[in-house]
Amino acid sequence: MSKQDTHFFNIFSIVLGILVAFAICVFAYARHVGKVEQLARVQVEEKYLDSVRAHTQAPVKVAVAGQDNTGLEIKPSAAAGPVLAVALPADGAATYEAVCKTCHAVGLAGAPKAGDKAAWGPRVAQGKETLYKHAIAGFSGKAGVMPAKGGRPDLTDELVKQAVDHMVAL
Ligand code: HEC
Repeated sequence: MSKQDTHFFNIFSIVLGILVAFAICVFAYARHVGKVEQLARVQVEEKYLDSVRAHTQAPVKVAVAGQDNTGLEIKPSAAAGPVLAVALPADGAATYEAVCKTCHAVGLAGAPKAGDKAAWGPRVAQGKETLYKHAIAGFSGKAGVMPAKGGRPDLTDELVKQAVDHMVAL
């Protein structure tokens, strides 16, 4: 290596060393500033405070005798009632459409098909009262199982009777 090269490398190393030292100083200063400033800011930040409050709140609210506990009141949800109750069909025909048709339109599970006179003839011959009784209380015959009220226990007896009349007349 020539003398000139050695000189260049010395200068270059010194410059490099100064730059590295400078970078380290800037980094240390930035960290120091960050620590002091950030902490102070975060502690007054409204959203941060809200989140701290939300996380440190007592998990259960307790009603205290003699105090205003209205905040604990459980409000009935407006949707709860009507959603659970399925509307009843309006008449026998609607009941047939909504409930009985599933089986009786196609003869599912051995159900006598609505409109099939040969299938209904002997059943009608038992008398309307028997048909009503079997439709309301359920019936297991040779053909299969007729579930009570077609599987809709919320139907009124009257609706089931009307549905029988409607089905037999088809
Ligand atoms: C899950 C299927 C199914 C549904 C739904 C259903 N049925 Fe039936 N039903 C049957 C079957 C199967 C039979 C035949 C039972 C047998 O004779 O073995 C039957 C038979 C009957 C009979 C004749 C009973 C007898 O004494 O011969 C009547 C009446 C009847 N159903 C009325 C109704 C009415 C009214 C509805 C609607 C409210 C209804 N069914 C809904 C399956 C069903």
